[in-house]
Amino acid sequence: MQNNKGDFIKNHLATRFVGKNIYYYDSVTSTMEIAKKLAREGIAEGATIIANRQTAGRGRLDRTWLSPDKNIAMSIVLHPSLENLPKLIMIASVAVLRAIKEITGIKPQIKWPNDIMIKGKKVCGILIENEVKGNKVSFAVVGIGVNVNLNPKAIPEISTLATSLFQELGEEVSRTRLTCAVLSELEELYLQAQSSTSVYIEWQEHMETLGKLVRVQFGTSIEEGKAEAVTEAGNLVLRHSDGHTSEILAGDVIILKD
Ligand code: BTN
Repeated sequence: MQNNKGDFIKNHLATRFVGKNIYYYDSVTSTMEIAKKLAREGIAEGATIIANRQTAGRGRLDRTWLSPDKNIAMSIVLHPSLENLPKLIMIASVAVLRAIKEITGIKPQIKWPNDIMIKGKKVCGILIENEVKGNKVSFAVVGIGVNVNLNPKAIPEISTLATSLFQELGEEVSRTRLTCAVLSELEELYLQAQSSTSVYIEWQEHMETLGKLVRVQFGTSIEEGKAEAVTEAGNLVLRHSDGHTSEILAGDVIILKD
């Protein structure tokens, strides 16, 4: 189902392929499901699924992602090389950082691995899912959820942890303009990343987790240490109290000390 909103976004985009094929829905379970179905059917790279709201939005580590209307919920189908797959986290995070700054003037930060934060509260979550066969990526789907005009204070489950652009600015932000900005930045960074490491540098520069004492939890595994660095593969390097370091591939970060 495509409609005017999708056409409007498409017509305002000066991209080559990202967002040139938009599937816009008023309500879906999750844009990830639709994007993966279309990707398996062979949809061209750059296809973008946008929903006004989601009834079963998903977050990282199988969490629920609240996705009422007033926010941005979208998934983009990409065909990266296996080598460039780890860069997608960086590309998506930096695209959102740049777009928020461009549209609102706010300068967000990143909490490892890919939460976009404003003053310590989450404004955007990113979910990347992919299918790999042998040494070839069949497809990757980048899911982006931004709290745009939501009032997080009205939702007890997220009121202390989340913010929105509306909450920070005190005025509504155009979801269409922000969507166009994210998609444009995403394409530019994705094309650049084929031949450069600059996205890694920009991602690292905005990583507010670095230098802090953190606890990282993944399932039953818990590690504590100083967040010393992030690697080009996207991993977090922790320095433990006995001086040894370890690389963390995935997990949830809790800041113990700034
Ligand atoms: C996270 O922070 O845990 C990631 C949240 C990702 C949410 C987006 S909204 C668009 C896309 N569809 C989903 O169901 N999830 C992602």
